Amino acid sequence: MKIIGPDALLFGVDDLEACTQYLTDYGLTPVGDGRFEAMDGTAIVIAAKDDTSLPADMGNGCQLRKTLYGVADEATLNAIAEELGKDREVSRLVDGSIESVDDMGFTLGFQLTIRRDYEAPAEVVHSPGSNAPKRELNELGVDPSVKITPRSLSHLVYFVPDGDKAEAFYRDRLGFRVTDRLVGAGPFMQPGGTQDHHTLFMIQAPEFMRGLEHFTFHFGGPTEVMLAGSRMVEKGYQSFWGPGRHQMGSNWFWYFNSPFGARMEMDADMDLHDEQWVAREIPISAEISQAFLFQYREKWIPGPGGGK
Ligand SMILES: [Fe+2]
Repeated sequence: MKIIGPDALLFGVDDLEACTQYLTDYGLTPVGDGRFEAMDGTAIVIAAKDDTSLPADMGNGCQLRKTLYGVADEATLNAIAEELGKDREVSRLVDGSIESVDDMGFTLGFQLTIRRDYEAPAEVVHSPGSNAPKRELNELGVDPSVKITPRSLSHLVYFVPDGDKAEAFYRDRLGFRVTDRLVGAGPFMQPGGTQDHHTLFMIQAPEFMRGLEHFTFHFGGPTEVMLAGSRMVEKGYQSFWGPGRHQMGSNWFWYFNSPFGARMEMDADMDLHDEQWVAREIPISAEISQAFLFQYREKWIPGPGGGK
């Protein structure tokens, strides 16, 4: 099954105005009908929590209503419909997508991916040594005023009450594989149509916490994460964790509290893996959760008096 990753997350939110402002400040592009897009067209879609067009909520305040996956081909869509149809209802919607539910009660959708190509420069660095500089001569490494747009919907993290059951569903029914495991928390999972280290992580948690823990988009590089995150702090949003760099996945990260009842992350430079990769299994600890971790502080200038 060539599932690429999430094309869109649908939310029924408590505060439409706050969520609209938040997603705009995060850098996504509002395109109408509650849809906020990254460069490749992947998106967050929001509606009021009492909007009857949304799938049912989970009854516990979780605002995520649907995880809509993009798949590479019609054969994958049909294979998913056939597999899930063995033991649960699978609906075919008017837009051609299919809708069903996972073993934890999360509503899932699958569609031919809407991800589109886009032109955007990669972040490159001048590294001393035999490697030639990669930026052009006289090309600057940082522009504090640059417009930053997230590039692609990256991954999401669920709190699940039965980690083994949840993992088995995605592995055995949808063809995800485990790329790494934080023992005591859960598995990083990669579907069959991407090389990203993970598009799904699941954390074992008590039943009352069942829901979305965080979600994130890929940014163009670590400098974009640092700049975009700094702008969020300066706008008054509360940093939750970061900036830093994870060990599993190697992604740079910065997490912020959000009005979605879940954290929203910014990430960059995640590892890519193929089937040659052997999953690591490491007990969860602060040491393994990141390679390094920093904390934002206000800009200042050094000076003879110690700076101001
Ligand atoms: Fe993450």
